[in-house]
Amino acid sequence: MLRSISHHRLTTLPLLGACYSMTAVPKPIANPEVFYTKLFINNEWCSSISGKSFPTIDPSNGQVIAYVAEAEKADVDVAVKAAREAFKLGSPWRRMDASQRGELLYRLANLVERDRVYLASLETMDNGKPFTQSYSVDLNAVVNVYKYFAGIADKYHGKTIPMDGNFFCYTQHEPVGVCGQIIPWNFPLVMQGWKLGPALASGNTVVMKVAEQTPLTALYIASLIKEAGFPPGVVNILTGFGHTAGVALAQHMDVGKIAFTGSTEVGKLIQQAAGTTNLKRETLELGGKSPCIVLADADLEHAVEQCHEALFFNMGQCCAAGSRTFVEESVYDEFIERTVEKAKLRKIGNPFDLDTQHGPQISKEQFEKILSYIQSGQTEGAKLMHGGDRFGEKGFFITPTVFADVQDNMRIAKEEIFGPVQPVFKFKRIQEAIERANNTRYGLAAGIFTKDIDRAMLLTQALEAGTVWVNTYNIVASQAPFGGFKESGNGRELGEDGLREYTEMKTVTIKIPKKNS
Ligand code: NAI
Ligand code: MG
Repeated sequence: MLRSISHHRLTTLPLLGACYSMTAVPKPIANPEVFYTKLFINNEWCSSISGKSFPTIDPSNGQVIAYVAEAEKADVDVAVKAAREAFKLGSPWRRMDASQRGELLYRLANLVERDRVYLASLETMDNGKPFTQSYSVDLNAVVNVYKYFAGIADKYHGKTIPMDGNFFCYTQHEPVGVCGQIIPWNFPLVMQGWKLGPALASGNTVVMKVAEQTPLTALYIASLIKEAGFPPGVVNILTGFGHTAGVALAQHMDVGKIAFTGSTEVGKLIQQAAGTTNLKRETLELGGKSPCIVLADADLEHAVEQCHEALFFNMGQCCAAGSRTFVEESVYDEFIERTVEKAKLRKIGNPFDLDTQHGPQISKEQFEKILSYIQSGQTEGAKLMHGGDRFGEKGFFITPTVFADVQDNMRIAKEEIFGPVQPVFKFKRIQEAIERANNTRYGLAAGIFTKDIDRAMLLTQALEAGTVWVNTYNIVASQAPFGGFKESGNGRELGEDGLREYTEMKTVTIKIPKKNS
């Protein structure tokens, strides 16, 4: 069914450190066939109950790729019922050893690896991200995250506790039950992996609603889940919209936990829905306006490159995008000059070309929103140094855009743009940089560039962010927790801390005749 890799080529990816450089990127499949467009419930494909479907668009040309089933509340009910059934005591899934759950996840990882070229091609067509990135960065992360959670499935355990009195006390981690998972369009396959990996490793069942802009790769993964041998009902994948299917999942009385990645506005609605229904557990991974702070002593070439990638990676559509670049006064002019040079060199074009670094934005809606932010930057008096326009005549491309002399009260300084717009600020003192960097409702990530260990430590302590990167940016790994302070979210994903969010802790206390001494 899938073409084998016929041609390899070496491509160096500037992003995400040495581990991804020199990855051999094969030729993409130019027009990947779409095999699945229906809802995946109980390991079967079904149309929506209403019979409705909706189009998914190729953002590089605005054309419809395929129509997919539109799940609504009634379909969510069916999927949750299937997931509840699969979670029943005595079901194959509940009886399964933790190591066997790990084995199934490992098989899934290997199937993703087998179909990696196809999946990366489909992701590029549905999302617009350059194939070089889909293949090297995204698919690498996907295989990696399933393997990580495969390995940890039988290694996450409770404690025995030296409790007062004649009691033997231990804790054990149990799955929460049916988990609702709502994911966004910016990293469709990666977000699916971040959510399915820990949920399945710890023995939950899942109803996932994928983003309406990018439904295709998630459905293909569903076919691999079946092929890997997961029992029916353990994973159910729905395509549909937020205001219908998403709301129904967040409000569902039989869903024990909801995991969401997306906008802060919708994150607040999810929390409200949990609060007014069954108090389901929630983890929220939301927006950001993350600062990158460049001190005058930093390796300037490296800082320029990292701050550029921190913002422009994935066309600026990253929750952790370094979207406020603060530069110390004495190196500011040189920094701007080099940053503009870098933006000019960024190769924009057909995402299937192997040398393309910059593809289209996800949708017409996002494209227009970003252009209106650029307009507001100019109206409010920031200095447009490069870009600011649409690129080409079709699709949703925006030229990499750099603003200098940005002031903290401007909209482009305060709001999440989620596009290729880098606002660069000037600061004089380090204390001032800290205060301004923290003066935001968000707290997802921060970057620091300096060779001075004392100043680096001062900043890592002072910055309000779930992740702080020093002399690097965007390094995210399956082993390390990721999540936000403040309005950037609740809870953590990845690592052991991410797994904990998918478990309930049970404390067992047993009376014993006498304590052993
Ligand atoms: P969104 O937050 O509306 O969508 C994310 C997911 O939530 C999608 O699956 C959507 O269908 C679902 N959803 C929407 N409304 C819902 C509701 N009321 N109840 C339950 N689920 C709901 O984000 P959107 O509209 O795609 O993008 C808007 C902005 O959100 C972006 O410009 C960006 O600032 C931010 N965003 C942040 C992301 C992140 O990685 N943290 C990812 C995507 C968007
Ligand atoms: Mg699409």
